[in-house]
Amino acid sequence: MSEPIVRFDDGAAYERMMGTWSRIAGDVFLDWLALPPGLRCIDIGCGNGAFTDLLMARCAPVQAHGVDPSPAQLEFARGRVAGRPMQFHQGDALGLPFPDDQFDVATMALVIFFVPQPDKGVSEMARVVKPGGLVASYAWDVPGGGFPMEPIRAQMRDMGIKPMGPPVEDASRMEVLLKLWRDAGLQNVEAREITVQRAFANFEEFWDINAVGASVAPVLARLSPAERDRMKEGTRARISVGPDGSIRPSGRANAIKGRVPA
Ligand SMILES: C[S@@+](CC[C@H](N)C(=O)[O-])C[C@H]1O[C@@H](n2cnc3c(N)ncnc32)[C@H](O)[C@@H]1O
Repeated sequence: MSEPIVRFDDGAAYERMMGTWSRIAGDVFLDWLALPPGLRCIDIGCGNGAFTDLLMARCAPVQAHGVDPSPAQLEFARGRVAGRPMQFHQGDALGLPFPDDQFDVATMALVIFFVPQPDKGVSEMARVVKPGGLVASYAWDVPGGGFPMEPIRAQMRDMGIKPMGPPVEDASRMEVLLKLWRDAGLQNVEAREITVQRAFANFEEFWDINAVGASVAPVLARLSPAERDRMKEGTRARISVGPDGSIRPSGRANAIKGRVPA
């Protein structure tokens, strides 16, 4: 069976599934970046604006620009603006629609493993950031089992189905991120792991949000009813359940930051 494609064509479904994870992990990422207020920021692969919105609320930038190729994600993002200094643009990480030296900070939250040439994506971030400014990213450590939907992926592997995931998952490895940042000429490079948990009332809620209403749905649709049951029950068996029926799956990401030479 072929690999399911991760699609970004429904901003509301993204919000329920990954937007919440983005905020939980993004909080830790922003604590680590410790950005002062009043900066000009660009958030690349902003998607439905989950992280851009958090950046605006937490760091009070003077201006935040989000860039993403997906019209559906951008439509949802534009609904978040509400008079705040945020602008969303359709565009690609490989050719940012901005001149050089425009921003104090460039971020990529859960994006670098979707960019076909991650090195070009990092050099584009460095190009649009002013000398002395910050280039930062974090991404689930997919090859290391850090993707929050790893129990679903593991069950897929068990059933001979290639798990869904980002196309350039190696770019989320810590050693690859460090090389990307150093090869782009960034300085004072630092990296860390981010581990977070998300609470679901019960397994059914987890399954509805992360399988039925997400990128797994087309895979489920191709399975027989018996295979669908096996997928669901096999995933359930991989997640520990609290005494009240709630579950708290975790995700682990690698984060990196570095400065454009002054
Ligand atoms: C997992 S989402 C992350 C969205 C958002 N940053 C967040 O934290 O919720 C990945 C995003 O990367 C975008 N993306 C994929 N390929 C891209 C590219 N070449 N350049 C910029 N963004 C891209 C997708 O459209 C999607 O919105």
